[in-house]
Amino acid sequence: MPGITIGDTVPNLEVETTQGKLKLHDYFADSWTLLFSHPSDFTPVCTTELGAMAKYESEFHKRGVKLLGLSCDDLGSHREWIKDVEAFTPGCKVTYPIISDTSREIIPQLNMVDPIEGDAGKIVPSRALHIVGPDFKIKLSFLYPSSTGRNMEEVIRALDSLLMASRHKVATPVNWKAGEPVVISPSVSDEEAKKLFPQGFETVDLPSKKTYLRFTTPT
Ligand code: BEZ
Repeated sequence: MPGITIGDTVPNLEVETTQGKLKLHDYFADSWTLLFSHPSDFTPVCTTELGAMAKYESEFHKRGVKLLGLSCDDLGSHREWIKDVEAFTPGCKVTYPIISDTSREIIPQLNMVDPIEGDAGKIVPSRALHIVGPDFKIKLSFLYPSSTGRNMEEVIRALDSLLMASRHKVATPVNWKAGEPVVISPSVSDEEAKKLFPQGFETVDLPSKKTYLRFTTPT
């Protein structure tokens, strides 16, 4: 069966975390959440990633976004590992919870299994990251192999795009960053666009003479 992906509801699992038991939907309620997995505790790339998550926490909170990590080791191991993470990233505290999935029953349900790697016949988590909306649905997923650490600037950029598209009938073009012009969704007619974007918009003159590429600056 294919795993959960964009548009699917994350199952309302009860999970053990470094901050106690929680039900995923209770945690996700009324917020956006980054749900991210790590291949293993006490591994080099993961240690840098966990520290970076802590370092960017104020950026996530500013956007109303919560964090929830996952690794398959036990809670005692997670708590010891956090000490290393904080030592490696001075001035940062890991204040977000980290799920322990020692039975490895959670990662398949969250589509976070590494399709290639294994650990003595057991499945292991990939570097998966789901951005989950307040409706408990996955809005975007990253899937990276264990050898490649994620880029927090890209996580923030993708989040800003999702938040923008959730508020306005727009999409964000290639390499877009917050504050730059956005494109008006193709489903919006020019008539509607005039009402929705009183600040105006610019239609690019293309060889096809089709008027689908319209830029505006969100207010
Ligand atoms: C790491 O986090 O560095 C790592 C974890 C698993 C396999 C390879 C690298």
